Amino acid sequence: MRFSKANRKIVIAVDGFSSCGKSTFAKLVAARLGYIFIDTGAMYRAVTLWAIEHDCVHNGILDEERLVASLDRIHIDFRFNPDRGASDIYVDGEWVEGKIRTISVSNLVSAVSAIGEVRARLVAMQQEMGRDKGVVMDGRDIGTVVFPDAELKIFMTADPEVRAERRYLELQAKGEQVSREEIVENIVLRDHLDQTRAISPLRKAEDAIVLDNGGMTLEEEMEWFDALFAKTVGE
Ligand code: DC
Repeated sequence: MRFSKANRKIVIAVDGFSSCGKSTFAKLVAARLGYIFIDTGAMYRAVTLWAIEHDCVHNGILDEERLVASLDRIHIDFRFNPDRGASDIYVDGEWVEGKIRTISVSNLVSAVSAIGEVRARLVAMQQEMGRDKGVVMDGRDIGTVVFPDAELKIFMTADPEVRAERRYLELQAKGEQVSREEIVENIVLRDHLDQTRAISPLRKAEDAIVLDNGGMTLEEEMEWFDALFAKTVGE
């Protein structure tokens, strides 16, 4: 193990704006420490996909009541994928990693994640998954709501243009036809909706450390993390 003295497992909360590279960062951190990585955005996306595929969206408008009434029927689980070095998300036993990051899901996920009943369920699942610690969880409310006592909280941010370009290249690589403008629009709108929703809005926890990774390479991000982690666990 890389950090010999760091036997005590902790919870690492990674929150921040859309498309900041939170998941990439959190996944690498988890691999470094032998921790479990949990992408909570994938859970909100999975519920959104379910809503789209089960007649809860009409003309782009979410039928909240219908979705809330169906929540008991939605079964979400994670299964480790050794090729990716992380867990893939499944809905009702179906692998949905390939479907949850499309622009149609991105355009609706803020509406779904603003619903109190949806959040209550997913937060309870997340708390259960992190009960034994040794997790790196990324999302919007991890350091504020899910694990307010997390030993290490990181809040990630970067310029919207930088974030949009990253998301654009990611979607291009997957062959999705989408314009840069559409992505910038989606990111700016999601930032706004995430920050202004009534329940658990995106905000930096008071004790979170800010990481603006706009001009950083992944290697630099890991160096930054190593120093922070060593300080946190008292090496
Ligand atoms: O991290 P992401 O972009 O895949 O997340 C998708 C959406 O889910 C995001 O717009 C806000 C919502 N979300 C949330 O409300 N709370 C979380 N803990 C994670 C994501």
